[in-house]
Amino acid sequence: MVNAAAMTDVDRCESEPEAAWRVNALAPGLLAETCREIGATFVQISTDYVFAGTASRPYREDDPTDPRSVYGRTKREGEQRAQEAGAPALIVRTAWLFGPGRNFVRTILTAAARTLRGEGPALRVVEDQRGSPTWADHLALGLIGLVEAEALGTYHLANSGSATWWGLARAAVDAWGHPELPIEKVTTAEFPRPAPRPSWSVLDLGKARRAGVVLPSWQEGLRGYLRSADAPFAPAPTHAPGRFGRSPTGDRT
Ligand SMILES: NC(=O)c1ccc[n+]([C@@H]2O[C@H](COP(=O)([O-])OP(=O)(O)OC[C@H]3O[C@@H](n4cnc5c(N)ncnc54)[C@H](OP(=O)(O)O)[C@@H]3O)[C@@H](O)[C@H]2O)c1
Repeated sequence: MVNAAAMTDVDRCESEPEAAWRVNALAPGLLAETCREIGATFVQISTDYVFAGTASRPYREDDPTDPRSVYGRTKREGEQRAQEAGAPALIVRTAWLFGPGRNFVRTILTAAARTLRGEGPALRVVEDQRGSPTWADHLALGLIGLVEAEALGTYHLANSGSATWWGLARAAVDAWGHPELPIEKVTTAEFPRPAPRPSWSVLDLGKARRAGVVLPSWQEGLRGYLRSADAPFAPAPTHAPGRFGRSPTGDRT
């Protein structure tokens, strides 16, 4: 059983901590208990927000967690409850997802379209937060790879490489065909939000790689997303990510 459900509105979690706790902490524990009863493996999707975001090298699975937001604290408790329920449990921390529905890339391209039409302000995007942007389709294939490898415990899984929000926005607008559109770099302090965000939460992907699962770069993930039916202003779908097969060296590509 894979649990991808969560209360993901990080700012709303600050004002509704009880609801966040029920969905992000209590529910994974109950689902994992059900898995124990029926003899199923439980897969819980978690987040880089369990970390403080003050590191200077990519976070490994066994680095101490220190969430700074209600979202991060409730997701960490969800991890713990999933692990303690007694079912075989796989905890997969991922980050900065784009795919179906609302996401940062969609928001930026929608804003860029308004700016190009002269209907919206110039784009301004935070440059002092760095993470691991990830296409949901690549994540899904990586999850299948980890399950097929019978991985249990905690794993980090994301597209490879890292970017700032500004870098991701710039790449998205460029790939969309508008490199001429200016995007101003701003600081987190200029955009105060209810929930603090990790300023540096790049995930170390070595453990998944050793299990034989390697996702493509985030730039490839972005290209795949923009060609997919989930993209804003999408063309007809022309792309479906392949399964990551094992290479002769054992790596999945
Ligand atoms: N987005 C990111 O950048 C990111 C980064 C790291 C980790 N994650 C994790 O990845 C997973 C998926 O995230 P996402 O961004 O795809 O989230 P999302 O788009 O907000 O989707 C969350 C899903 O959870 C469901 N849900 C929420 N509350 C529920 C409840 N009380 N009962 C049943 N279903 C409920 C929602 O259902 P409705 O559609 O019906 O509301 C929705 O389908 C989450 O575990 C999240 O913590 C996300």
